[in-house]
Amino acid sequence: MKIESMKIKNFKVFKDVTISNLPEMAVFLGAHGSGKTTFFDVFGFLSDALQTNVTIALNKRGGFQEVISRGVKNEKIEFEIKFRNTEKKGVFAPIVTYSLEIEFEKGKACVSREVLKYRRGKKGKPWHFLDFSNGEGSAVTNEEDYGKKDFEEKRIKQKVTSPDILAIKGLGQFEQFKAISNFRSLLEKWHVSNFSIEKGKTISDVGISNHLSVTGDNLAQVTKYLFDSNKEVFDKILEKLPQRIPGINKVMAEETLDGRIILMFGDENFKDPFIARYVSDGTIKMFAYLILLNDPELHPLLCIEEPENFLFSDLLLQLCEEIREYAEKGGQVFVSTHSPDFVNGLKIEELFFLVKENGYTTIKAVSGVKRVKELAKENQLGWIWRNHYIEGVNL
Ligand SMILES: Nc1ncnc2c1ncn2[C@@H]1O[C@H](COP(=O)(O)OP(=O)(O)O)[C@@H](O)[C@H]1O
Ligand SMILES: [Mg+2]
Repeated sequence: MKIESMKIKNFKVFKDVTISNLPEMAVFLGAHGSGKTTFFDVFGFLSDALQTNVTIALNKRGGFQEVISRGVKNEKIEFEIKFRNTEKKGVFAPIVTYSLEIEFEKGKACVSREVLKYRRGKKGKPWHFLDFSNGEGSAVTNEEDYGKKDFEEKRIKQKVTSPDILAIKGLGQFEQFKAISNFRSLLEKWHVSNFSIEKGKTISDVGISNHLSVTGDNLAQVTKYLFDSNKEVFDKILEKLPQRIPGINKVMAEETLDGRIILMFGDENFKDPFIARYVSDGTIKMFAYLILLNDPELHPLLCIEEPENFLFSDLLLQLCEEIREYAEKGGQVFVSTHSPDFVNGLKIEELFFLVKENGYTTIKAVSGVKRVKELAKENQLGWIWRNHYIEGVNL
């Protein structure tokens, strides 16, 4: 699945933003406070709303009044996400649009409209196969059969238990609602990575973790899991490690007698391995990214916040490549960065920038800036950015 475009209205710093032509790997530049974290939080918000309800998702962020763009009165929070199912290669997949409007009345949040739709054929009218307002609506149960001979739409009416519950929450659990369950699964398996060196170096309790957590505090457990249960991936990571960090040629995750897992690294110059606490910050971070990006179970959408801290600049180009490989395998990746070295590894279509003006932020494609497009023919993007050719973004 791939997100093609997004519209955000009245969600925090984004009063009215449209981003089109999102590639498999998209990188976002922006000054502090311009809204990079908030942009990733759109998915966090939707994912929270899906797992619980809209009221809880809003309250987790300070309530409706905090979440709606400052200065905006009597308006709704709106999201529109256009995506394409890219699962079946070579099969035409229409662009599906999910839209959501959230209203706040008499002290309560409610979903005033929720629609999933796509166009049947190039000139067809949008087909609303899910359409709900204030907790009531209908959904098509045989959407997958469209195109078959004698197709007749089957639609059922539904009511959710409360108007602040997303209709995709209940309906997405059924196999028959294919497009709905696909979108639901994008929101469920969405992942943000905000790796913390300190957390990555902690000694984990014994337990099984198959995937790296947001902060990386289960790095030792995931390493052990890969070693025990997915040797192929573990060996691949081990093979890449010395290419990224000279000298480091071994990683072990050992269970101690008191039931903990200790991560250890081996240096080719010394016989005894040393524990993760004493490894360099850059080593642990690079290792964590190798674990994250070589995970055979891809996140449909992976957001990485500022991967550059503690990484030697030469590694950033390699990391950029590693992330692109992940995106090419089918997991879309959004990255925020302040690093010109990382930006140097990008193609112009992959780069976006956030500009805050009069309190609100817009997101623009760097490829839409004529001057930069010209300059990019002969210069690296990181250099162009550093020299302030990308408007409104300073280092
Ligand atoms: N409801 C709101 N309306 C307008 N701006 C908001 C609202 N809530 C937060 N902000 C602003 O959004 C910005 C948050 O930026 P953030 O996403 O943390 O930026 P970055 O990650 O790029 O540093 C802050 O400047 C904050 O003041
Ligand atoms: Mg941030």
